[in-house]
Amino acid sequence: MNVVVIGSGGREHAIVWKLSQSKKIGNIFCIPGNGGIEDIAACYDIKVNDFEGLISFSKKNNVDLVVVGPENPLADGIVDAFTEAGIPIFGPTKNAARIEASKIFAKELMKKYGVPTGDFKTFFDYHEAKAYLKKISPPYVIKADGLCAGKGAYVIKESEKGFSTLEDLMINHIHGDAGKRIIVEEFLSGIEASYLSFTDGITTLPMIASQDHKPLLDEDKGPNTGGMGAYAPIPFIDSDMARFIDTEIMDKTINALKVEGALYRGVLYAGLMLKDKKPYVIEFNARFGDPEAQPLLFKMESDILPILIACIEGNLKDIKEIKWKEGVSICVVIASRGYPDKPEKGYVIKGLEDLKDRKDIMVFHAGTKKEGDKFYTSGGRVLGVTAMGDTFKDAIKKAYDAVNSIYFEGMQFRKDIGAKALKVIGE
Ligand code: AMP
Ligand code: GLY
Repeated sequence: MNVVVIGSGGREHAIVWKLSQSKKIGNIFCIPGNGGIEDIAACYDIKVNDFEGLISFSKKNNVDLVVVGPENPLADGIVDAFTEAGIPIFGPTKNAARIEASKIFAKELMKKYGVPTGDFKTFFDYHEAKAYLKKISPPYVIKADGLCAGKGAYVIKESEKGFSTLEDLMINHIHGDAGKRIIVEEFLSGIEASYLSFTDGITTLPMIASQDHKPLLDEDKGPNTGGMGAYAPIPFIDSDMARFIDTEIMDKTINALKVEGALYRGVLYAGLMLKDKKPYVIEFNARFGDPEAQPLLFKMESDILPILIACIEGNLKDIKEIKWKEGVSICVVIASRGYPDKPEKGYVIKGLEDLKDRKDIMVFHAGTKKEGDKFYTSGGRVLGVTAMGDTFKDAIKKAYDAVNSIYFEGMQFRKDIGAKALKVIGE
């Protein structure tokens, strides 16, 4: 089977890497890809919103399957375009991808169908929103309705910040049209978890739960980022809670979308807050998480290709479970100086060669560029150093030993990825 993967991050490197081990894989293409992906797939620089260009490339190269990494092309209708052209594609349609592309759509769906989530109010008008904020006291969360590359949620701890955020979104339009409509949401405190399931629109097939680290700095300080590291499994969700999430969140949401005429196929990602041992949805994403995809796919034992195809063909119920390698998988993201605001680029990356043949370590590339046989930084998040170990302690040590053997000018990374798990299990 010839496959195209769309995207250029660590998530896409992990998808390409996992596909490359599949029994039935033929040629793998990645558009646009990155320096690391180039080593295992042919990369082509076509714009990911140029659907016509992508479709004609896929036809020319006898592509049997397209896998979409990021949210923007999904929200723009890439799945609808390929489906119309008769090329199988993994991901939700534009209509179904609203679960991520519109927070208002997602919240209203959850409310209507009884999926556990925080209380919220929707506003289309700045003055009405301001009058509401005057009546409530922090903490609360303000969210832009549309896609903002992970930067559209503001946890408000002081009233003044609430008013200025509202102004930024609804008057100054710092996120353009995405912030024209907003929600004000109840603040939920607890432990965050990422729960991803494959689905064909009818059945869901869960992956193991993982945990992202969104803030830039240790102890969850600093600005929010795309994610600075992740690991799986996590010790905060036992099998009873996982079954509750499967039925009361994932199945219920998939069924709700079907009833609403928006059959959802692909990966559904629930960002959860575990509060008093109960899970609440704080957001849905219409795709694999990044970095979560890196530790998850590194740990996945099952062949991914039949799962992707079953989602598209609507017979996911025939796949009973996903097999996982024993142990803990952890990914530490190394980012450029200046990330997330203004990442510096163009520095040579050293130390990758020695990690190349390790079975227990995989360095997934994100913002890298290959020139000759050298890799250079070319983005905010640069590498996802991913390790498998027998225990949390072992996996964490392996990942950080590998991180410390890599160098580029201005590299920054969190030193506490996995620390929350260690604390709970007392290793
Ligand atoms: P989101 O873009 O919705 O994932 O939000 C980004 C981050 O904001 C989340 O990872 C949480 O840390 C935080 N957050 C979002 N919604 C809430 C909420 N209702 N209560 C507390 N924290 C939240
Ligand atoms: N890791 C967060 C995301 O993929 O949205």
